[in-house]
Amino acid sequence: MAGTHATHFGIHSLETIPHGEDAVIGKVVEISIRAHEKDGGRRRGQHPKHHGLVRAAFRVDPSGLPPECRVGLFREKKEFPALIRFSNGGKEDDRLPDVHGMAIKLMDVDGEKVLTAEKDARTHDFILVDDPAFFVPDAIDYVPFSEAFAKFKGVSPSIVRSALFFLSDDRRGGMAMAASLIASLGFAKATAMLKIAKRVLSKTPTSPLTSRYWSTTPYALGRRAVKYMAVPTSTDAPPQAGPDGSPESAEREAPENRLRKALWSTLRDGGAGFSFFVQLDAGPEKTPVENPMVEWEESEAPPIKVAEIVIPPQVPDTRARMAFVEDLSFTPWHALPEHVPIGGINRTRLRVYREVSARRHERNGVPLAEPTPADVDAACGA
Ligand code: HEM
Repeated sequence: MAGTHATHFGIHSLETIPHGEDAVIGKVVEISIRAHEKDGGRRRGQHPKHHGLVRAAFRVDPSGLPPECRVGLFREKKEFPALIRFSNGGKEDDRLPDVHGMAIKLMDVDGEKVLTAEKDARTHDFILVDDPAFFVPDAIDYVPFSEAFAKFKGVSPSIVRSALFFLSDDRRGGMAMAASLIASLGFAKATAMLKIAKRVLSKTPTSPLTSRYWSTTPYALGRRAVKYMAVPTSTDAPPQAGPDGSPESAEREAPENRLRKALWSTLRDGGAGFSFFVQLDAGPEKTPVENPMVEWEESEAPPIKVAEIVIPPQVPDTRARMAFVEDLSFTPWHALPEHVPIGGINRTRLRVYREVSARRHERNGVPLAEPTPADVDAACGA
C-alpha cells in the first residue's frame, strides 16, 4: 500500500507509513476497549495474569560499547533500581501454551520523558515477550486479525486454537477462522501471520527466569534503530521447594500457578539475572522498522550487551506485591526521547495502552501514577 515515507533519522526512508494509519489506530483502540470491557475491565486487557513482582538492579556499563550505543540510558556507568512483571499473554493456567511477558520498569531515570502528560515521571519501561517476532505487521492488518479472533473466540475457544494450529478438536471452526482471515488479508499474508501466531502462542516454559525475551518491535537509539533482547544468566531448573506455610503458600502450590511457584522457589534462597542486549538495525531489507513479523536475525544484527539485570533473593509474590503490580502501568511509551518507540505497531500501542490502562485504573478507583523506589518500599516492604 502506498503511503508517506517513514523518517527514522533518514536510515529507513525506503519504508512507508500506510495511508490512513491514524484512523485505523482509532479502530484498534475501539476494538481493544470493547474486548477489555467484555473481560470486566478491571485487569489488563492483555497479559492479565502475573507471577510476581521482582525487584532488580539494571546495571549499565558502557565501557566496551561502540559510540553509537552510548546514548540515553546507556551513556554512562549507572545502576537503576528496577521492577519486573512476568506475565502470561492470555491464559490463567500456566500449564497451557501461551506467550509470556517480561515488563521491566527502571526507576530514578533523569530527564524529560516522551509522554507529555508524564514528562516528569522518573521511569523508563522495556516490554518484552518470549519470541523474537510479532504476528501482525501493522495497524491496518491488526484490525481484521483481532476481529477474527474476537468473533471466533465468542463462538468457541477451541476454534481459535484450531485456526492457529491448523488441526484440531474443532477443525471446521478453525477452517472458518482461517478462511475469514484469508478473505480479508489474502492467502499468503493470512497464513504467514497464523504461522507466527502459532509459534508465539505455544510456549510452555517451566520458569519465567529461564526464557529469552525480545521486544519484537523497534526503538530509536539516538539516530539508530534497535530491538531489545534479555537472555537469562542461568537456565537451571527451579529447585523443588515445598509449601512454606505463608499466607500465599496455597495459591503458589496450585498446579495452574506453576510459573509463580518456579519464580518463588528460585528466588527464595538464590538470585537470578539476565543480560540485556540491543540489536542495531542493518537496513530496511533485513531489519525493517515497519514490520515486526520480520525477526532481526543475529547474523544481520548481532546482539550487543548494554546492561546486566541482577535479581537478588526475595519473595516476589507476597499479597502486597501481587496487589501493587496489578495497579502499575507499563507502556513502551514510558521512555526517554533518545529511545522513542518507532514503527506502526508501536505507534498503535501509544493510544491503546494509555486508554486501556486509564480505564482499568478508573474502574478500580486507583490513580495512574508512576512509582518511585520509596513507593515500592512503602507498599511492599523493602
Ligand atoms: C497493536 C498491537 C498491540 C496491542 C493492541 C496491544 C495491547 C495491549 C494492552 C491493551 C495491554 C494492557 C495494557 C494495560 O492495561 O496496562 C498490553 C500489555 C502487554 N503487551 Fe501488548 N499490545 C500490542 C503489541 C504488543 C507487542 C508487539 C508486544 C511485544 C513485546 C506486547 C507485549 C505486551 C506485554 C508483555 C504486556 C504486559 C505489560 C505489563 O506487564 O503490564 N504487546 N498490550
